[in-house]
This record gives sequence, structure tokens and C-alpha cells, in this order.
Amino acid sequence: MIQTALLEAQLHRSPTAAGLALTRLESQMLMLHALGRSTSERAWLLAHDQDALSAAQAKSFQALVRRRLAGEPMAYIVRRKEFFGLDLQVDARVLVPRADTEALVDWALDVSAPTPQGLKTTALDLGTGSGAIALALAHSRPDWQVCASDASDAALTVAQANAQRLGLSRIEWRLGAWLAAWPAERFDLIVSNPPYIAQGDAHLPALVHEPIQALTSGADGLDDIRQIAQQALQKLRPGGWLLLEHGHDQAAAVRALLQNLGYAQVQSKPDLAGIARCSGGSFQRQ
Ligand SMILES: C[S@@+](CC[C@H](N)C(=O)[O-])C[C@H]1O[C@@H](n2cnc3c(N)ncnc32)[C@H](O)[C@@H]1O
Repeated sequence: MIQTALLEAQLHRSPTAAGLALTRLESQMLMLHALGRSTSERAWLLAHDQDALSAAQAKSFQALVRRRLAGEPMAYIVRRKEFFGLDLQVDARVLVPRADTEALVDWALDVSAPTPQGLKTTALDLGTGSGAIALALAHSRPDWQVCASDASDAALTVAQANAQRLGLSRIEWRLGAWLAAWPAERFDLIVSNPPYIAQGDAHLPALVHEPIQALTSGADGLDDIRQIAQQALQKLRPGGWLLLEHGHDQAAAVRALLQNLGYAQVQSKPDLAGIARCSGGSFQRQ
């Protein structure tokens, strides 16, 4: 019976991660996925909690429970993650988009880049992963030209599939390392959530399921931010903005780095928890 299987799943403890248990919501989402239903159909589940499970359904549910208890992100298991109101398909080829990154999108939508008359605002998402930021910008600003790139071919495949599913086909996607992918273009806005975890950081063991190239960036975690900030100076139109997500303890270092490179109006913005997790500045022609 569905109800019994759900209760048993919540009593399980992971053999590998001491104490890790499933929440009620997680067990319900896994059950819906095992039954081939959308994870949003919790009302259906409550109405059917006395239904019998076939042997195959019970086995499939148990396999999903084991994966979750071994620490695999829920988004990879159910292959879905909501970001900025968009339903994205994700898997282990891309970082799971985080709710914190929505603060970066909010900021990008707020900065008014002075676009020359007759030209569209052109925004670039660097290290697009699942396409989360680029898709949120394109969805919110149908009048912008949105571009996105990543050094991972596999990530770009996921991002382009998301764009197709969401009907946001006017984004231009490119494969390449940071701004080398855009040799001839100029942008009003460059946004990035790059890798920013220091090699050897204590948080890395909890992130083993996500691609390492999406996570780490040198000894202090700032190697990629340094490269992007330097390269963006050649790629921003005068008055254009560079906005970067970074770690909870990196805001002062990122602001200093931007100021040293000559960016103006350098500032940080808080995430949902009130911690400064994005910093940026505008490019003024000397
Ligand atoms: C932290 S993830 C962010 C993914 C997505 N933007 C998000 O917010 O969910 C960083 C992304 O940068 C990409 N990346 C890493 N090094 C890169 C490089 N040198 N050039 C371009 N992209 C890179 C990774 O493949 C990964 O998709």
C-alpha cells in the first residue's frame, strides 16, 4: 500500500551518511516519480494513499529512496528543478540551480543598462549550466537579446533542451571558455554564477554528485571570478554592468578585485538569507 511504503521510507536511515533520513515531502516526491507522475501531484497521492503498489512500483520506489539516502540531490533523481518560476530539467551534467541565484537574476533585471538608441539590450550569462539564468532573463525580458555560454558541451546540451521545452528559442548558445566564446560581441550586461569554491573546502564532500568543474576555482575560489572580471572589461559597452555570484565570505574580496580593475559603482547584494552573495560594478570608458 502507498501509505505504508511512504511511512517505511521515512523511517530508513542511510547506511553511508549517518543519520540522513527522508522528509515526508521527499518521500512523497519519490513515490510520485516512481509511479510516473509529476512530483507536484501531492493531492493525488493523498487521495490514493490506500492504493496497492505493484511489485515493480515498490522496487522502483525503494531504489529511488536508496539514491536519496546516499546523498544524491533530489533534483537529479526526479530530473526537475524550479528556478525563477521556470520548470527546468536537470541531471548530473549540470549544477542544480539554487534559489540563492534568483537574487542575481533580480539584480540583473533591475540594472538599467543604457543601450544605444535602436539597439536591443544584450545580456550574457557566462557558465550557464542548465541555462537557469539565461532562461530566466529571456523569459522576463522578451525584448532583450540573451546570449549564454559554457565550457561544458554536456551542460550546453541540457540548457538548449530546456530552452526548447520552454519555447525560449531566441537565446544564442556558444561553447567556450568565459569571454573567449564571444570574440566580436559587446554586451550591456554580463551575469555569471561561476565556480567559486576553494579547492579543499570542507563543503566539497557534500557536493560529490555535482560536476567538479562547476564548483571549484583555485586555492581561494576566486580564479574564475578574476578571469571573468578582467575579460569583461573588453566586452562591456560603456555603462554596462558585470554581476557575479560568489561565496558567503567572498564579497569584500570580489568588491576589491572589481575596484582594482577600475569598475565603478561597485556594490554587493544580499541573498534570501540576507548574506552578501552577489557583487558587481559598471564599466565606464576611461
Ligand atoms: C556554478 S555553475 C553555474 C551554473 C548555472 N549558471 C547556475 O547558476 O545554476 C558554473 C558553470 O560554469 C561552467 N564553467 C566552468 N569553467 C568554465 C570556463 N572556464 N568557461 C566557461 N564556463 C565554465 C561550468 O561548466 C558550470 O556550468
